Amino acid sequence: MRGNLTSGITNLITSPQVKKAEWSNAVEALTDALELEAEVTKSIRGVIETCETGKEAKYNDYHLVDYLTGVYLEEQYKGQRELAGKLSTLKKMMTTHGEIGEFLFDKECKELTQHLSCI
Ligand SMILES: [Fe+2]
Repeated sequence: MRGNLTSGITNLITSPQVKKAEWSNAVEALTDALELEAEVTKSIRGVIETCETGKEAKYNDYHLVDYLTGVYLEEQYKGQRELAGKLSTLKKMMTTHGEIGEFLFDKECKELTQHLSCI
């Protein structure tokens, strides 16, 4: 029974794919990442809306709405804010320092990532 329920799920779930594998600069890459996050957020909000306003009783699921809103949507908004902040910082650094600004931003991100993995 369980196998029957989960086997059909993979057909319902579609993951948005990145449109390309290479970017000309970090601003372009972060912009695409932010757009992808926004697309995922929009999809989650669509599921929430369906669960809240579904005309058929089988689509009303307030527990799922609570779960999606409290866990996933919060993470999505946090991720979008972080990406938007990084994109803004990178744009300012590139405006001020040109391509060396991109290098400095990359170095700063790398050091931050290494620091976080040590914690
Ligand atoms: Fe995310």
